[in-house]
Amino acid sequence: QASVRIAPSILSADFARLGEEVRAIDDAGADWIHVDVMDGHFVPNITIGPMVVKALRPHTTKPFDVHLMISPIDAYLDAFAEAGADTITVHPEAGPHLHRTIQRIKSLGKRAGVSLNPATPAKMLDYVLEEIDLVLVMSVNPGFGGQSFIESQLRKIEAIRKQIDKLGKPIDLEVDGGIDRTTAPRAIAAGADVLVAGTATFKGGPSAYAENIRALRGS
Ligand code: DX5
Ligand code: ZN
Repeated sequence: QASVRIAPSILSADFARLGEEVRAIDDAGADWIHVDVMDGHFVPNITIGPMVVKALRPHTTKPFDVHLMISPIDAYLDAFAEAGADTITVHPEAGPHLHRTIQRIKSLGKRAGVSLNPATPAKMLDYVLEEIDLVLVMSVNPGFGGQSFIESQLRKIEAIRKQIDKLGKPIDLEVDGGIDRTTAPRAIAAGADVLVAGTATFKGGPSAYAENIRALRGS
């Protein structure tokens, strides 16, 4: 792909200085800000909620790519939309009615994404792909940063790339988990066009962010 976008995950940022960290990755060339929302129920970790998303909103004009790892899901969509999310991505397992959840996100005027866990088949997208703006392939089990890339997800990315191209709609194909200088080019070759990276963006501290992001972009 000509234009790969980099979405640093603030999960690996310094949570005590989150506003500054968001400004730093913005300055360093981040395309989107990836916000991992975890509830200690859908995934075994707890992070941040809509209040923090709202507090961060004035710190950048870059799109907020909000990845919801929470269940139930529908009750929180309005709050994240109001807090300033641009894309809201949900997991099919997080609620009983994925199609309805997608419609709700779109009716709030936001871009809708669907995220697939490593064990969740691409087939899950068959009846919703045409409705959504983004597919997020999890290349680790969600919950924590710093895990190793799961190889089998490259096949899933390839399969979804084919489906998207066949459909001919501008749907983003994003990959999340274990993305570094080695796995990034492989995910891109498989068809991903948005890379989420936590550890690989934030390692080395603020002075390294620009070079870290450049390296992921492969330029
Ligand atoms: C995992 C999150 C990821 C995570 C990626 O549940 O969805 O966004 O922050 O972290 P790294 O890039 O360190 O694997
Ligand atoms: Zn994520």
